[in-house]
Amino acid sequence: MDFIKEKQIDLRIAKETMDEQGYCFFQGLLTEDQIKQIEENRDEMLEYYSDSFVQKRLFYKREDAGNKQGDAVMVAFENNGLPYLYPKGIISDMLKLYNSLIGNFMGIEVPRTSRSMFNSQKYYEHSRPCGDHQDGEHLEYTHTEDSYGEYVCKMEKGLLPRYVMVFVLSNENENGKGTYIRHHNSEERIDLPANAGDCFIFDNLAVRHGVPELDKARSMVGFRNFDLNPVLFQTTKPEDESDWVKVEDKLNAGWEKEITSEEAKEIMLDFNKEWKNKIFEEEKDKLAAF
Ligand SMILES: [Fe+2]
Repeated sequence: MDFIKEKQIDLRIAKETMDEQGYCFFQGLLTEDQIKQIEENRDEMLEYYSDSFVQKRLFYKREDAGNKQGDAVMVAFENNGLPYLYPKGIISDMLKLYNSLIGNFMGIEVPRTSRSMFNSQKYYEHSRPCGDHQDGEHLEYTHTEDSYGEYVCKMEKGLLPRYVMVFVLSNENENGKGTYIRHHNSEERIDLPANAGDCFIFDNLAVRHGVPELDKARSMVGFRNFDLNPVLFQTTKPEDESDWVKVEDKLNAGWEKEITSEEAKEIMLDFNKEWKNKIFEEEKDKLAAF
């Protein structure tokens, strides 16, 4: 397949740019035909969504509120004992690109068993804003309300992926308005205006990101890898602070600790076992059948 012009991306320059500014932006990465293919393959994958796959933590619970819809499913090329789907069609090529970029940033080869979360976000007109946050696998969280009285999930403990990649499929907002980033401890928001076909990847440890209220529709897909040497984050002070780094920020302040892929896998296996009971207790009214 004539892939996403991977050859146009100079990995050496991408790494320098990432180290320097905390993100890379690739303008016009996707052709119109490729966007159509992505939408088709995305929809085919999301057809597998079911409550029992949510319970198994292959899919994540569909978010459908505030004029936006979010879907997430774990993808990988080979089995490592945790739930995954093989990515369909062009999404497989996109995952290869993501893996080659993050492998290059981290100086390691990404194993075929390493999973990423494939994420789809559809924003409709007047979608609810999303405050500054870091993406992560939420191991512990609290529910709060934002200033709109809407449900917000605050991560108290989680696995942070190092890099998050976003491919914009459509954006009807003026000047590509959408995601912004903010370096932690900084007040300055940096807009990442992105139109259909544009793509960006950011350092999820160095920056927080968010989305303002958007007047018009926007749709994206993306990847984040919680398996590959992620960072364990928690808001409470660890008993033994020796391996931890305290991170100051007006939001998402806490402690971070680098862990290995093997440690992350153990955490996920344990968590997935607990999750079965947890989701049953918390959400049994919402889930139709097991
Ligand atoms: Fe996010």
